[in-house]
Amino acid sequence: MTADTAVFQAVERIAAACPGLKPRVGLVLGSGIGPLADDVADAVALSYTEIPGFPVPSVAGHGGDLVLGKLGGVDVACMRGRAHYYEGHGPAVMRTPVRTLQALGCEILILTNAAGSLRVEAGAGSLMLITDHINFSGSHPLIGETGNERFVALGDAYDVALRRELLATAGELGLTLHEGVYMWFSGPSFETPAEIRAAGILGADAVGMSTVPEVILARHCGMRVAAISNITNLAAGLSEEALSHEATMAMADKGAESLTRLLTGFLERMAAG
Ligand code: HPA
Repeated sequence: MTADTAVFQAVERIAAACPGLKPRVGLVLGSGIGPLADDVADAVALSYTEIPGFPVPSVAGHGGDLVLGKLGGVDVACMRGRAHYYEGHGPAVMRTPVRTLQALGCEILILTNAAGSLRVEAGAGSLMLITDHINFSGSHPLIGETGNERFVALGDAYDVALRRELLATAGELGLTLHEGVYMWFSGPSFETPAEIRAAGILGADAVGMSTVPEVILARHCGMRVAAISNITNLAAGLSEEALSHEATMAMADKGAESLTRLLTGFLERMAAG
């Protein structure tokens, strides 16, 4: 099966489950923020196991279903959980899901993730709007693509107008929304303190193991992108606390409520707008 056959089959499967629905916005819900999908009205949920080319995350607490319906008055398709490069499927593991959302009608992709912060003023429970990224993984999701479209310009990867709207929504809701550069490490280990010092010198404000490949894949197929980090910890070496998956998962709930309000408010503004 070619990659694009998978997209075609995925679209057919989803369209059969919710005929006539044309989502405008795709959301990728990372750790802790999955419950946002429970707020989707008139929801139709499909397990990734039912959708061709949608890899099931192997990480505890990362979910694995696509929820379609209305959120804040906007037709959306929410991916509750995503697969990661470090799970071993390759850097293009999210290619079919991203291209399927685009083929369903989503012009906008909003990504969320859990991340470690290099900014002590943006500690656990904070939200950071990603303004730009550094791909530090040594890999790339478009390797093997053909055609000149593969030479994607990433000068404006994080859509300025969407960022403005998210900042305005945060302001309206009285939420603090930090802004910063996200650096993609492949994982699955957490970084060393020396890597975090290097990340800081290179210009990173937050680090994590996802999002950058999805952003590149989405820009490749022409979607407008915004991404927000739910900060679960200070990055390695910046606090006394030992990093663990369990600890980051436990802290993911802390920022999730604000992130839920922010995204719902953003969609409500869009519906009004
Ligand atoms: N590093 C990488 N990924 C993460 C972190 C971190 O500190 N916290 C949550 N996801």
